[in-house]
Amino acid sequence: MENKRETFGSRLSVVMAMAGSAIGLGNIWRFPYLAGQYGGAAFILVYALSSFVLALPIFWAESIIGRRGGGNTFGALEKLAPGTRWKSLGLLTVLTPIVLLSYYSVVGGWSVDYLFKACTLSFQGDVQGLFQRFISSPWEPVIMHTVFLSATAAIVILGVKNGIEKFTKLTMPLLFVLIVAIVIFGLTLPGARAGAEYLLKPDFSKINAQTVAIAMGQAFFSLSLGVGTILTYASYVSKKENLFISGMGTALSDFLFALLAGFAVMPAVFSAGIAPHEGAGLVFDTLPYIFSRMQSWVGAVVAILFFMTVLVAALTSSISLLEVGVAYLSEEKGMSRVRATVVLGLVAWVVGILCSLSFGPLSSFKLMGLSLFDFLDNLVATWLMPVGGLLFVIFVGWKMSKDDVRDEFTSGGTCNVRLFNWVYFLMRYLAPVGIAVVFVTTLLN
Ligand code: PHE
Repeated sequence: MENKRETFGSRLSVVMAMAGSAIGLGNIWRFPYLAGQYGGAAFILVYALSSFVLALPIFWAESIIGRRGGGNTFGALEKLAPGTRWKSLGLLTVLTPIVLLSYYSVVGGWSVDYLFKACTLSFQGDVQGLFQRFISSPWEPVIMHTVFLSATAAIVILGVKNGIEKFTKLTMPLLFVLIVAIVIFGLTLPGARAGAEYLLKPDFSKINAQTVAIAMGQAFFSLSLGVGTILTYASYVSKKENLFISGMGTALSDFLFALLAGFAVMPAVFSAGIAPHEGAGLVFDTLPYIFSRMQSWVGAVVAILFFMTVLVAALTSSISLLEVGVAYLSEEKGMSRVRATVVLGLVAWVVGILCSLSFGPLSSFKLMGLSLFDFLDNLVATWLMPVGGLLFVIFVGWKMSKDDVRDEFTSGGTCNVRLFNWVYFLMRYLAPVGIAVVFVTTLLN
């Protein structure tokens, strides 16, 4: 059954949807704690380089494949390289986003719960141990994961134009307003300056092979690369759109938002006299503690705004994860959109429950010494995403003909003509070699 494909309505919608996918828990939850653990400003520098030199070319590569192939990951690769093994990359990138979605929506569920807690003033009083008790409980996080995933599915069921486009257009500007308000508030706290300095003054001795590998992984995660999301979204982009601009616009807003999130979190952390390297609990454990010590109404308002930001950002990303598989099942297997969403949603739901329980009742079950949640996060973010990204960029740089790549990137010779050779160089040589070098170094370490 051939479904009529939808397209995004305007350039603004394209950038909003792509930035919506990029800006998420990766920016608000992961980035601040990684920056805190791996050296603040020095980490940010390496992260910036990874984002714009290694990750952005992959973003363009996925955009080129998606729009030229005009379909889901599998269909697009099969159309551009018929009868080859490249379609297995398409299949891989149907599976990885569902695995990612399963544990992503566990954390999404935490943000639902914390928004709820903020609204019911649960962060006033003693919050020590609250986070640990919450994530290890067998029910609460599972229910919240269910709520989060259902909201994701509801938006995806509405479709590309009525669901994804409308939702991201409405919420993305709001996200920026919210985060800027929180940054301004954070910077006015006593002692906040040290936190800002931590993010601004690089200590180059902090840069080593591990920092580089982590920063690159984070750049991939944050720009939603290597799992077919950008490819799928690009297949909904009209032939007239300028791919250079949608890529650059997304990468810049994603980077800016990560920085803002850093400035929303770090000054408050320093102001409370807490060390910046708390790790994964920074946002859900440390921040509530800080909120609890503020004047009560101030703490309540900031907590509500903050967790609302986390939740909305997480939703605009999770819908993009689900869309990859939905596009595949509806276009390749003839399933209706509703059915495809429900089937994949159920898979992510079950795997997500196991991930959620791996903080509590299933915590003794280990895979290679890691809990299921950590194992999957490691597998996806450190391996599958960079490998997927590397293969996409190799496809564009080495498998597609240069003329086709040029034609697509310049929208038939109407834009970016002078930039093309630079971008092609990045896609053909610099990005693949750079990623391979980081990989080998990580393996040797
Ligand atoms: N980029 C999203 C974030 O930063 C996560 C994501 C990865 C979304 C891959 C889609 C695909 O939270």
